[in-house]
Amino acid sequence: MTHVVSFINLKGGVAKTTTLVQLAETLAFIKGKRVLVLDLDPQTNATIALMGETRWEAADEAHQTVAQLFLDQIHDTHLFDVNRAIVRGVSNLNRITIPPDMELGPEVTYPRIDLLPSSIRLIEAQDRMADISTRSHYTVSPMEVIRRALEQRFSQYDYVLIDCPPNLGYITQNGLEVSDFYLVPTIPDKLSTYGIPQIVKTISRLRRARSLKIACMGVLVTKYQVGSNIHTRGLDALPELLRRSFDEAGEVPARLFGVRMPQAGATAEAMDYDRSPTNFRKKYGTGTTSGHYQYEFPVMLAGEFIARLDESDPDTVEGPAS
Ligand SMILES: Nc1ncnc2c1ncn2[C@@H]1O[C@H](COP(=O)(O)OP(=O)(O)OP(=O)(O)O)[C@@H](O)[C@H]1O
Ligand SMILES: [Mg+2]
Repeated sequence: MTHVVSFINLKGGVAKTTTLVQLAETLAFIKGKRVLVLDLDPQTNATIALMGETRWEAADEAHQTVAQLFLDQIHDTHLFDVNRAIVRGVSNLNRITIPPDMELGPEVTYPRIDLLPSSIRLIEAQDRMADISTRSHYTVSPMEVIRRALEQRFSQYDYVLIDCPPNLGYITQNGLEVSDFYLVPTIPDKLSTYGIPQIVKTISRLRRARSLKIACMGVLVTKYQVGSNIHTRGLDALPELLRRSFDEAGEVPARLFGVRMPQAGATAEAMDYDRSPTNFRKKYGTGTTSGHYQYEFPVMLAGEFIARLDESDPDTVEGPAS
């Protein structure tokens, strides 16, 4: 079963993209899963971290990014081709080269990360999303562009991870529309957690209004600094903030992830595609933090992530003993 998860927080710089890239690489190269990353952020950070600038520039010039998918709807053009736009086998940890013209049907199951790249031109699309309704004489909703173009492809993957920009505009809503879950990365401080009640309330409203299945799969502490007074106070306040946020929205309270992603230079450096690490451990750091090697944190996160999604999967929940 495919699980689709959006990474979202209204606060910028809380490690949404870093967490998503770490998790995509861990799920693919440590856990052996098939992963699709959708980059919906015009900043293109996940795109550049996963495919590098040179390949991305070629894709952008060829109009094969998610921005063109939206722009085609706005301008009534047909430049976006989903078969060309999804880049197969990204990441500088990938060791299997896939020829661009090779047919990849659902039967091809080896672990890999595929990516639908983003583009700065998403900003242009964002400002004109309402035009999609009028141009299509109200037959296409601006919330359903991703669903209509891509949802069918999702069944080829174990996980679809969506990197959202730090806002709840139409483009983000396109991601939420096709998501089973959302995950909220947050630094444990006041400014980073401030927007959580707003996210929960807005997504809850959206879920009801559009009969979506989306639920919060958890809140993840990022860039955690052991011994920081601000982070210690922030962590103490988080459970009550979450209880209140979900109660007020009438939703089941989300749980914090047990693992906390530590602030580490190696994690930031791992987002540089051109560093070409020799292996996963080198990429995510062999220094130690809180008694663990740094590369163990994404592995612990992936373990919890998989377990939480398996819990929600009716196929993996055991029925009553007969
Ligand atoms: N665990 C970490 N340790 C040290 N630096 C980190 C860690 N996680 C993320 N960073 C750094 O923090 C900055 C913000 O991270 P990132 O870009 O992932 O955040 P974001 O929430 O996606 O931001 P935006 O809202 O702009 O999309 C980056 O410079 C990144 O390298
Ligand atoms: Mg980001």
